[in-house]
Amino acid sequence: MQVIPIASGKGGVGKTLVSANLAIALAQAGKRVVLADMDLGGSNLHIVLGMTGLKGGIGSFINNPDVSFKSIIYKTDYKNLLFIPGDSEIPGMANLKASQKRKLLKNLFALDCDYLIMDLGAGTNYNTIDLFLASGQGIIVTMPALTATLNAYIFIKHSIFRIMDTSFRRKTVAREHIDRLREDSSAIQKVYIPKFIEVIRKEDPESYERFMEKIKNFSPLLIMNMIEDPRQAGIAGKLRKSCREYLGLDIEHLGVLYRDDLQTVALNSRLPIIIYKPQSVLSQAFYRISEKLLMDYRHDTNPDEDYFDESYMNAEIEAQADFSAKIQSMEELLHSGALTSADMIDIIKTQQIELNEMKKENTLLKSKIVKAANAGYKF
Ligand SMILES: Nc1ncnc2c1ncn2[C@@H]1O[C@H](COP(=O)(O)OP(=O)(O)OP(=O)(O)O)[C@@H](O)[C@H]1O
Ligand SMILES: [Mg+2]
Repeated sequence: MQVIPIASGKGGVGKTLVSANLAIALAQAGKRVVLADMDLGGSNLHIVLGMTGLKGGIGSFINNPDVSFKSIIYKTDYKNLLFIPGDSEIPGMANLKASQKRKLLKNLFALDCDYLIMDLGAGTNYNTIDLFLASGQGIIVTMPALTATLNAYIFIKHSIFRIMDTSFRRKTVAREHIDRLREDSSAIQKVYIPKFIEVIRKEDPESYERFMEKIKNFSPLLIMNMIEDPRQAGIAGKLRKSCREYLGLDIEHLGVLYRDDLQTVALNSRLPIIIYKPQSVLSQAFYRISEKLLMDYRHDTNPDEDYFDESYMNAEIEAQADFSAKIQSMEELLHSGALTSADMIDIIKTQQIELNEMKKENTLLKSKIVKAANAGYKF
């Protein structure tokens, strides 16, 4: 079974949308898929899937010993796809006890399927990170806004620290180093992980080896969602550069997804977009990503730098191709008369509002960055 946790750091960037659509695409390709809503406290995957009348989910399984794990696995309208809802009986992932988490993971990992897709909540609490680290091949969803890419970076950074936590045993030199770092919040922000690991290698080779053994299997994948312009595909490259430089980790690009207003219509119809409109550019991008997952290249090969480079180049080419496809379908709509001039005015008005919002966010972030840079924060 391949476990694919889907995380982001920042909320509202499209984790749930990606989880639902990828799960269906993989199921349509003949794989047996289980989709689990692990966003405890904020579960909404059932809405995207259009599932109603669910009696219980992970919350009731955890809280009530009479609820069996089997009873919270539901059939869906889609062949090969089973669904485990979250439900709101527990306040959130952060409140999950270690024993509850173990019980949950034990049951999830014993499932008989090809793919287990876990839709995680926003944030960087330990439980969310641990679920993300339950597999070395989790997906990070982000979007071009600076806050979103920064949050993705911070999520990856926290994940690496968590791997250190589980590699450095008590009373070792490495543990002392990391505890000291934790005591000083500005030091932890500024730490340059490759350098830190080099210190551990010299001073505590045993802990170093244990860390290297674990980090070897950690290769998160990236999805850049809600782009509006092919040039925004390049933002992923910047995130990759920061990860390589400051975290000593490369990440593969799985691909881009354009923002598409059709998604809102699909959501209101309680249908995942790849069911609502399989031919749309967004749906086709989901199929493209699912095919990349199905190729499963990395299971038997150790990817080198060229492999990662290529994933970014492909994403840029795909972003360009999707953009042309979108323009073409827009032209077809215009010529068919399906789009009225009132529609066009509406579109332009919405774009102006969005632009203003982005300008405001930009100004705010600029001032925050200047402040952080003055305080010596390294991004
Ligand atoms: N590519 C897209 N085009 C249009 N709308 C999108 C796109 N991606 C996501 N959305 C919309 O953005 C909103 C947030 O998406 P979603 O719920 O999947 O994010 P999330 O990361 O799971 O959020 P949360 O952190 O709250 O769980 C939803 O209304 C969704 O329909
Ligand atoms: Mg969500």
